[in-house]
Amino acid sequence: MNPTLSAQKTTETKTAEAETAVPATTEPAETPARPGELPDAAEARLRELARSLSLEQQIKLLTGADVWSTHALPEIGLKRIVLSDGPAGIRGEDFDERHDSVSLPSSSALSATWSVDIARRYGQVLGQEARRKGVHAVLGPTINLHRSPLGGRHFECMSEDPRLTATLAAGYVSGVQSMGVGATPKHYLANEAETERFTSDSVVDERPLRELYLAAFEDAITEARAWLVMSSYNAINGTTASENTLLETPLSSEWGFDGVVVSDWTGVRSVEAANAHQDLEMPGPVGHWGAKLLAAVEDGRVSGEEILEKITRILRLAARVGSLEGFEPAVTDFPGALDGAQVAREVAVRGAVLIRNEGGLLPLDAAALGSVAVIGHNAEEARTQGGGSATVMPKYTVSPLEGLRTALPDGVTVTFSRGAKVAEGLQPFPRKSLHNPVSGVPGMRVTFLDAEGKEISGEDRLASHLIWFGVGIPEGTAAIRMQTEWTAERAGIHHLGVGTVGQIRLAIDGTDVFNSELEDDTNVLGAALFDPPQTIHSVETAAGKRVAIEALYQLPEQQEIPLTAILLGEETVVADPQAEIRAAVEAARTADVAIVVVGTNAAIESEGFDRKDLDLPGHQNELVEAVAAVNPRTVVVVNSGSPVLMPWLDRVGAVLLGWFGGQEFGAAVADILLGTEEPGGRLPTTWPAALEDVPVLSTTPVDGKVVYSEGLHVGYRAWLRQQTAGGAAPLLPFGFGLGYTTFELEGAHAPESVPAGKDVVVHVPVRNTGTRTGREVVQVYIARENSAVERPARWLAGFAGTHLAAGGTDSVQVRIPARAFGHYDGGWQVERGSFRLLVGRHAADDFQELEIEVR
Ligand code: BGC
Repeated sequence: MNPTLSAQKTTETKTAEAETAVPATTEPAETPARPGELPDAAEARLRELARSLSLEQQIKLLTGADVWSTHALPEIGLKRIVLSDGPAGIRGEDFDERHDSVSLPSSSALSATWSVDIARRYGQVLGQEARRKGVHAVLGPTINLHRSPLGGRHFECMSEDPRLTATLAAGYVSGVQSMGVGATPKHYLANEAETERFTSDSVVDERPLRELYLAAFEDAITEARAWLVMSSYNAINGTTASENTLLETPLSSEWGFDGVVVSDWTGVRSVEAANAHQDLEMPGPVGHWGAKLLAAVEDGRVSGEEILEKITRILRLAARVGSLEGFEPAVTDFPGALDGAQVAREVAVRGAVLIRNEGGLLPLDAAALGSVAVIGHNAEEARTQGGGSATVMPKYTVSPLEGLRTALPDGVTVTFSRGAKVAEGLQPFPRKSLHNPVSGVPGMRVTFLDAEGKEISGEDRLASHLIWFGVGIPEGTAAIRMQTEWTAERAGIHHLGVGTVGQIRLAIDGTDVFNSELEDDTNVLGAALFDPPQTIHSVETAAGKRVAIEALYQLPEQQEIPLTAILLGEETVVADPQAEIRAAVEAARTADVAIVVVGTNAAIESEGFDRKDLDLPGHQNELVEAVAAVNPRTVVVVNSGSPVLMPWLDRVGAVLLGWFGGQEFGAAVADILLGTEEPGGRLPTTWPAALEDVPVLSTTPVDGKVVYSEGLHVGYRAWLRQQTAGGAAPLLPFGFGLGYTTFELEGAHAPESVPAGKDVVVHVPVRNTGTRTGREVVQVYIARENSAVERPARWLAGFAGTHLAAGGTDSVQVRIPARAFGHYDGGWQVERGSFRLLVGRHAADDFQELEIEVR
């Protein structure tokens, strides 16, 4: 398809709202007081306080008190510091659905907004959530790069480009910290894959390390002044991250980081890590430090001064977040409160990327619609967030089906057909289908039993996926009993079961159907959460009849990490996939429009493993083809956190990429499809047409090593290099996205020359030439021919957005930081001479070109 196609449709005009994403300034502004910087006197008191502690006290503070918090030391007025995931919601200290969290769209959706302003508000909502939940540090943003689309945590990372990532990450960090809560850019460093994630060694040359992977972190530290950084699990060039000198240089020595380096959970592997700039070992209370570290300091293997520095940094963090008496917290004046659900909806709208809109099919005119066929498993059970530690428990989620039903006028007939199964294995029961037989309320009764089977305590739970990570299971518990009555919506055979790791007994309607060990054969730490083995049993029942389900789980005597996860639920089993497709086709045939929501599932995009391919699971491609064949007005919404293949793209009317859209996903989809809002997103990562076209693909270590042999050529840079050599082009270029209106970028101008080390501002007049309000993102890339050093074909140097009413104009200013002209060779260097500035709307545009001399 032609990515420069734009869509148009007549509708009302809104007032122009100017928006400039990047502050425009040629001169460096006066250095502001660093956010969170303590006055000199307070710094001196911190150091004194650190010195006043005994070595035993100091060592104790360096390892967590439990899974999510540090030790308190009441004698010096130190309270505990609570840390929590992150990055798209704040879970708090437990995974308990009764303590719900705002669930924001995945980071890939956030970065598709290309808006620092939105990133800041996204961060602020997280900061608010953290305060509400008693959390002092957010474990986010996740800012590793999209090196391969197979990366399991792609959805959780921002983009394939260091400039875009760094800019948005800095916005996110400022937003979180504006609420007096620490942000934790992670995972430092070169943690772009999940396969063998605890041991793999990322082998990266100095230039790509500096110009790509470190550059992505830099602004979050140097500009937004993050109060924490998380070291990663992997090794970088042979040394595991928590022992790596990268924690010193550039992080501390060059970037001036004065916060706390927290390990990824279990990422400290040795006493020697204390010789590196690794400050805090998590989780606790038992790890590699403690008594072993004490002995190492006593016999001189680790210096006492080094320990003192770590303690000072931990106390500084405590002071900043208000956990140290006698010190004023870094923030006492908070910004006005934001509505989390509203921000979730706004990000989902602004991050959604419209990639096809034949004949202006979208937006749909709701008043002219008689019937809508909504199709797809993900239309009903959308994936609103990715799997793993990023998971939070929202109060509710809006599915596209619900969003559309709510937004469409009463007279419109909405049908639903699943069409093709997506979710694999057990899915938690819908909350409304559960009745607690003990308390007589909706949900499930959970009872903690001691070794004699005596009840210690019990609780009423709302959901059937129970996770305890370090908290919530009372002391002395030997077994956990779960009791519920589940009601089927439809009569027939249902497939019910349990997923966990360990010994479990499952009874359905009073009969034991399983009583054995569910063994994890993946050997992945946390498998009970990410990928639990399951036992599933078929039950025939009438609609509306309650089925009693009871499970008894025996807690293992020893656990490597204190994680227990038990999932009670139902598996969707489709006897005849073709019949499902036929039913969807019949619904689509007579409808005025068919809306097909396709996507991935929890077993595909998650922390803990990488993807095997980029295919939509199950029969979804076949489904889309079949629906499109009977209804030319077929709109496809793609519900995935990262790229998937869309072999049917040219045969459908419109396609919207919605990412993992957070709790308001379905409402946002309805807003866009019905034209209440404009889709403003631009791709933060290149989308391929075929797996074999992807230039940088493998995430699997060879002999324990992932070699970043592509060097500087990642993402669109890799695609451009491949195309120059006659190889495949991508399906959709980085930066691409349509809207409901059209824009013209008029004559751009920039200074003809600039002294090395100075920023440049490119002025780009933009005109909305269509008939609706819309948002354009002006992107400026740099290219350099005849260079003495190796260069990517081009690289993103700056961007800015503008929001314009129909006919409106704006002079958009795009700031190009001086660094964009630099390259790394033992230090940042500038090759003087002529660079080309390429002004356009995506990485493969027909650019306006300007020349600039760096002197
Ligand atoms: C993840 C981190 C996360 C931590 C705590 C780790 O497994 O890699 O991103 O913050 O767990 O949940």
